[in-house]
Amino acid sequence: MTGSIAPESKYWPRKRYFELYDESVRHPEEFWAEEARQLDWFRTWDKVLEWDLPFARWFVGGELNASYLCVDRHIATARKNKVALYWEGEPGDTRVLSYATLYREVNRCASVLKNLGVVKGDKVALYLPMIPELPIFMLACGRIGATFTVVFSGFTAQALADRINDLQAKVLVTADAGYRRGSPVPLKRTTDEAMDLSPSVEKAVVVNRAGLDVEMKSGRDFWYHHLLSEASDHVDPEPVEASHPLYVLYTSGTTGKPKGVVHSTGGYMVYNHSAFKWVFDAKEESVFWCTADIGWVTGHSYIVYAPLAFGATSVMYEGAPNYPDLGRWWDIIQTYRVNILYTSPTAIRMFMQAGEEWSAKHDLSSLDLLGSVGEPINPEAWLWYFKHIGGERCPIVDTWWQTETGGILIAQAPAIELPPLKPGSASFALPGIDPQVVNEKGEPTAPGERGLLIIKKPWPGMLMTLYGDPERYKEVYWSRFPGSYYTGDYAIQDEEGYFWLLGRADEVLKVAGHRLGTLELENAAVAFGPVAEAAAVSKPDPVKGEAIVIFAILREGHEPSSALEKELNAHIRSTVGPIATPERVFFVKKLPKTRSGKIMRRLLKAVATEAVIGDVTTLEDGASMDEVKAAYEALRKEI
Ligand code: WTA
Repeated sequence: MTGSIAPESKYWPRKRYFELYDESVRHPEEFWAEEARQLDWFRTWDKVLEWDLPFARWFVGGELNASYLCVDRHIATARKNKVALYWEGEPGDTRVLSYATLYREVNRCASVLKNLGVVKGDKVALYLPMIPELPIFMLACGRIGATFTVVFSGFTAQALADRINDLQAKVLVTADAGYRRGSPVPLKRTTDEAMDLSPSVEKAVVVNRAGLDVEMKSGRDFWYHHLLSEASDHVDPEPVEASHPLYVLYTSGTTGKPKGVVHSTGGYMVYNHSAFKWVFDAKEESVFWCTADIGWVTGHSYIVYAPLAFGATSVMYEGAPNYPDLGRWWDIIQTYRVNILYTSPTAIRMFMQAGEEWSAKHDLSSLDLLGSVGEPINPEAWLWYFKHIGGERCPIVDTWWQTETGGILIAQAPAIELPPLKPGSASFALPGIDPQVVNEKGEPTAPGERGLLIIKKPWPGMLMTLYGDPERYKEVYWSRFPGSYYTGDYAIQDEEGYFWLLGRADEVLKVAGHRLGTLELENAAVAFGPVAEAAAVSKPDPVKGEAIVIFAILREGHEPSSALEKELNAHIRSTVGPIATPERVFFVKKLPKTRSGKIMRRLLKAVATEAVIGDVTTLEDGASMDEVKAAYEALRKEI
């Protein structure tokens, strides 16, 4: 088998990139309809797009089912016995699911949900480790038309409860534990705490992953394996209208409250199917491995929905990349003969720092394409990845996108035409995507000039709204540049039209590729008794991209000490999660503010990074140079 995995269509086989791109943006509706026809629909749409700015409905009146697309449609073909999922647990246990066995598992799981009373339109929260039951529950929810939210299993009880409460989830699915760095991390305990704070949860399902003894509340908590014994082997997929919400995924923004990004079923599935096809150029026999956790959008789109909708083989690994040692990932690639590896710059920098002897010990010759996502990739890490992992033979696709965009928007698209690679640039927009770099006034910037990235046309994978808050949706994404989607990212387009994505322009941090809002961190810090006021900024980190630095003012009666710093760190860690652990805390007497009362964050950042004053004075809006200078000097003296 060597043929392309992509179905034939008017635009396939390959047309040169620019020709295809041009056609796609000139006739977007015709173009997206052609892409949508590559999926199976129970009912064809009446209208490709209803655009009531900024609310888009794609494939209006069309009916489909995400679980049908990911499993049912393959079991009627030769893919029935193909591997859908190679799973490896951290302790070394493995599970291999063919499309036929995945189909059975998804049906039985859907039956369990139905028996618990879950019906179309109900909300389900999934707080699971990286075990096959996570994609199985996602697919089972979609099968019966229940909308789910996956909560990253590293989040705390409070973070879990906030998400459950916002969504009003009726059922919560968890496990006794998940493995991380050699020991089981208890999850059921955390969900017990969360459920005390979330009255909407009527029932909890517990998957037995680690054989731990956990407390089960009678009438509320049920072991999954007990429920399975009464499950039926077949549940009809429920056709849903294209705009039916498939899932809500919470992500950080510029306010303290995480945003519930709502993704549709039709537009999301169509867009992901297309983006996967263009960017990863998978062949029928390809083994695809996206190393993200399913708790983040990358795992949703590129471990579960896109590869499975394609009938590709996807790899899933439960644990830490350095367990039992730094050779683990390379061992997985060698074992499963992985062809396409999709990972983050943070992971690459971690391996780079550890040295190439770990990967050199393994046979990585199966690889033929590498991908990067989540943060800007610095050229040094790019070159290391290219040389030591890809053996100077595999192109790297640098994929830019966001939780809100549903799938990759800007990246090399080798399935169409591979452009000459420039380390650190994500190159061009995918077909149908219309990005532009603009200045503060919304005017296009000159080549090479830094500006803000906007998207000028709606696309099928875009979020539909923010859960329960359409006003916030309008304000966050559509008010700054009316008529266009504001990404919140800085970018440059060079002389040859290549996009260079430069990181966030707003108060969102990217720590090891994970999104964190400064306000979330500040709220967590001031919830710690001794802290009166706090500001969170980031400083560059050689591995994590950005590291968190907190400036805190203490209440009367508290003195700065390293013990207090440790306590504050532990408090933030237990409120937001381990990924939010600050790298450094500075206790100060005063936080520099502009006349309008805004914290001078860029100045704090300059102080944290020990930048020279010359680089700082022009950085704050609404503050005079003297004010900034004085605040800077005062702060430097204090710390
Ligand atoms: C950043 C992750 C540079 C960007 C899929 C964006 C990137 C944010 C890249 C979204 C890339 C993602 N190059 N920056 N290839 N990919 N980003 O929602 O700042 O977790 O706005 O989605 O990650 O993060 P999110």
